[in-house]
Amino acid sequence: MLNVIQGDTVFITTGAGTVGSLVVQLAKLEGLKVIASAGSDDKNTSTCEVLEKEGPINMQAFICFWDNVGGEILDTAFNTAVAGARFIECGMISVYNLEPYPIKNIGQVVGKQLKIFGFIWSSLASKYEAQFYEEMPANISRGEIKYQEDKTIGLEHVGEALLAVLMGKNTGESVIIVAEE
Ligand SMILES: NC(=O)c1ccc[n+]([C@@H]2O[C@H](COP(=O)([O-])OP(=O)(O)OC[C@H]3O[C@@H](n4cnc5c(N)ncnc54)[C@H](OP(=O)(O)O)[C@@H]3O)[C@@H](O)[C@H]2O)c1
Repeated sequence: MLNVIQGDTVFITTGAGTVGSLVVQLAKLEGLKVIASAGSDDKNTSTCEVLEKEGPINMQAFICFWDNVGGEILDTAFNTAVAGARFIECGMISVYNLEPYPIKNIGQVVGKQLKIFGFIWSSLASKYEAQFYEEMPANISRGEIKYQEDKTIGLEHVGEALLAVLMGKNTGESVIIVAEE
């Protein structure tokens, strides 16, 4: 989906989350330079610090921004991007429960000829599912892809687990263990 070439830079938000950490690892496997952001202090330095050090994001013809957060960081990325950058809009977790964030830099989409692709996984599943199940177990067994689960035991704690996800307190996929076998 990234459709990029080796050496391109990809910027990925929620780099410590389930989707983000997988995209980070897949991008590295493809030989891309990865800049990732994470909200919690113990997961990363601040996004602004990273962008200051690495940015403006080193945009080549096929550079990508993989966005799981939306809102302010998306607005910043419109401003930081250079001409022709591609934005993959996977999620908008920063604004799910809030008023829509007032994006100020939307004009850059025209000026910089940015390409924005939003998607829902189910619409792409039929095209990529077979490839995913063919490649991903092998990637995991070779240790090329690692994942972490943040386990909560008991269905009665599902509310706390959901809150932790929305507050950025989980590290890895949040899994509810309903019953031990
Ligand atoms: N398009 C699709 O089909 C599809 C499918 C699955 C998921 N998604 C989207 O992908 C995104 C990540 O999902 P996931 O399953 O990887 O979730 P996850 O593992 O629970 O990670 C979510 C992470 O988002 C970060 N976060 C939460 N609130 C935030 C905020 N206000 N601002 C910035 N970061 C915030 C937190 O990480 P930090 O502590 O690092 O901030 C949190 O750990 C979500 O937006 C989700 O809706 C899209």
